Amino acid sequence: MSTAAAPAAEAATETILSVNNIEVIYDHVILVLKGVSLTVPRGGIVALLGANGAGKTTTLKAVSNLLRAERGEVTKGSIEFDGERVDRMTPNELVRRGCIQVMEGRHCFGHLTIEENLLTGAFTRRDGGAAIRRDMEMVYDYFPRLRQRKSSMSGYTSGGEQQMCAIGRALMSRPKMILLDEPSMGLAPQVVEEIFEIVKDLNAREGVSFLLAEQNTNIALRYATYGYIMETGRIVMDGDAASLRENEDVKEFYLGIGEGERKSFREVKSYKRRKRWLM
Ligand SMILES: Nc1ncnc2c1ncn2[C@@H]1O[C@H](COP(=O)(O)OP(=O)(O)OP(=O)(O)O)[C@@H](O)[C@H]1O
Ligand SMILES: [Mg+2]
Repeated sequence: MSTAAAPAAEAATETILSVNNIEVIYDHVILVLKGVSLTVPRGGIVALLGANGAGKTTTLKAVSNLLRAERGEVTKGSIEFDGERVDRMTPNELVRRGCIQVMEGRHCFGHLTIEENLLTGAFTRRDGGAAIRRDMEMVYDYFPRLRQRKSSMSGYTSGGEQQMCAIGRALMSRPKMILLDEPSMGLAPQVVEEIFEIVKDLNAREGVSFLLAEQNTNIALRYATYGYIMETGRIVMDGDAASLRENEDVKEFYLGIGEGERKSFREVKSYKRRKRWLM
């Protein structure tokens, strides 16, 4: 790219990820996402919230192009990462271009040490050992616990350390954006807090953008700048994190701090939908 073209190109890609009205079908028949749209600004932290089975993981896998392995397919709509359609890239090309997913359940190789796990994260790189070493040190600076445990088999480390290892491994690919699936799952509150603080640091200091799928609405809305709430394959609400935290329905159904008599969830939702149609 010529330098003259750079500013225009940058202006055109203030949005690092845009998901445009996608539909996803598993096994040719099971319709799971029914027109999902969302955007992540470059350098943003965006939360994708919702209960069990809402479609959060499916959305992330659609972005990282990992659905095919699950017999899933994007049948409508489009997804663009950093100005390019992801369906034209393999998952590895996408990683090389800077978009990587950290799977739910912190997939580390249990029989490898923490350090070996981190090294596996550099597999798409071609910039040599010295650069990879430097980034390993950077990962250890962000996750001091991983430095302490670098020679331990990851299968014997704690759940929090395994989640850190999974994020650290993703960092070794030098991502522009990380799709982080349920980082809080099964972890004690103070460990969750520790991990989200590191996410915040990575965002602020390395400029990594995050799309964060979480059932834990409370913590996600404290760290994200914007949130989308998903239910049965649709986005039912979205807004600035601060406004979602103050929203009565969100408080009642997702934060568990609503006032007064509980309405039926369905009632609130259909009201919302009506309202959205009218707007
Ligand atoms: N490989 C698959 N084949 C068929 N259906 C699937 C497959 N994976 C997910 N689903 C279905 O798609 C829906 C959305 O699942 P998904 O895992 O995306 O939800 P989620 O929001 O990530 O839920 P959770 O919070 O439990 O992780 C569910 O009804 C699920 O049963
Ligand atoms: Mg999930």
